[in-house]
Amino acid sequence: MAQKIAPDSTASVPGISEKANILVVDDRPENLLAMEALLSMLGQNIVTARSGEEALRHVLAMDFAVILLDVRMPDMDGFETAALIRERPRSKDTPIIFITAALKNEDNIFKGYAAGAVDYIIKPVVPDILRSKVLIFVDLALKNAELRRLNERLEFQTAALAAANKELEAFSYSVSHDLRAPLRGIDGFSSMLARLYADKLDERGKELLERLQASSDKMARLIDDLLKLSRMSRKEIKSESVDLSALASSILQRLSLGEPDRGVKLVVADGLAAEGDRGLLGILLENLLSNAWKFTSKRPKARIEFGTTRRSGKKVFFVRDDGAGFDMAVVGKLFIPFQRLHAASEFPGTGIGLATAQRIVARHGGRIWAEAEVGKGATIFFTLQGPANG
Ligand SMILES: Nc1ncnc2c1ncn2[C@@H]1O[C@H](COP(=O)(O)OP(=O)(O)O)[C@@H](O)[C@H]1O
Ligand SMILES: [Mg+2]
Repeated sequence: MAQKIAPDSTASVPGISEKANILVVDDRPENLLAMEALLSMLGQNIVTARSGEEALRHVLAMDFAVILLDVRMPDMDGFETAALIRERPRSKDTPIIFITAALKNEDNIFKGYAAGAVDYIIKPVVPDILRSKVLIFVDLALKNAELRRLNERLEFQTAALAAANKELEAFSYSVSHDLRAPLRGIDGFSSMLARLYADKLDERGKELLERLQASSDKMARLIDDLLKLSRMSRKEIKSESVDLSALASSILQRLSLGEPDRGVKLVVADGLAAEGDRGLLGILLENLLSNAWKFTSKRPKARIEFGTTRRSGKKVFFVRDDGAGFDMAVVGKLFIPFQRLHAASEFPGTGIGLATAQRIVARHGGRIWAEAEVGKGATIFFTLQGPANG
């Protein structure tokens, strides 16, 4: 036997119906009919109940934008019904509008309900007032439903992205790992060749062999960097309060000790701290500051600064130098692994530093970007998410 399906049976299924559900509760059929007629022009899904018990059954089965509740009903009155509606988790926040004959004695009772979730209308019902009150809650419910849908989609996309990223990381990790073995072979055999057959090779042969070894060294460095980069994204974040000023100062001090003859003015703002992973934030600053140090190396006098500024009300950290800079037309390549904007003959490096920096910042929920001018210097800005980092 075919089951009779109520026209509103899909109304509470999310994503199928764009309509909001309105529950009207009144013991008198003629009142229910009148209310239905009044509300029909709102184009929503109207469900009726002739008693508190019936209302509770509906409330268990579906979500309502608003419940219109007659106060005077035999058996269970409107207030008792409302109290039970509030006890159900699904309907504990559903707005209720009481329909009452007079306010005199019920005044206090209304005050007992949480503001915003409750309203009342005095009989005889004025159609426009009823409709405009109901419409407010209908709008709210539809907007909430839309928000929920968007949120769900976002959550889904975020999860998909995280899975794809993880896969990619695992892939690049295993590829770089697997590349090491044959590379060790090339390195080992070319060393043997150099050692055992040195007297049989002429100058040209020796030179080619040296080049071969230099290339294999370079590849070993690239693989190490690639592994470091993939570890960066896999490493678990341990959040704590980190003194970035102290961290930056000690990194700069170490750089200065390595090249004591360089005339670089170092400016580190006092008291800069952030919530984050101490190890990763150290690597972040190390990469940015050693870039600043490297790309100012052709200047007799240079200035490197670590500080903060504000952009659209948010705290932004920056590392600024007045070195070689770069052309903003190619800034898009800056954070891509192994992409370099300067020739290795001019400034050495493998091009993994800023890619690493970007991953660290991303793992802290922040953003990183750059401003630069050829010959004038570069500034790398970054933000970090977190309560103390705003
Ligand atoms: N402070 C800076 N000034 C000028 N160019 C920079 C600066 N920092 C980074 N760059 C450019 O971005 C490229 C990528 O930087 P990075 O990933 O750290 O690689 P590396 O330092 O190994 O060259 C650099 O090769 C350089 O062209
Ligand atoms: Mg670098």
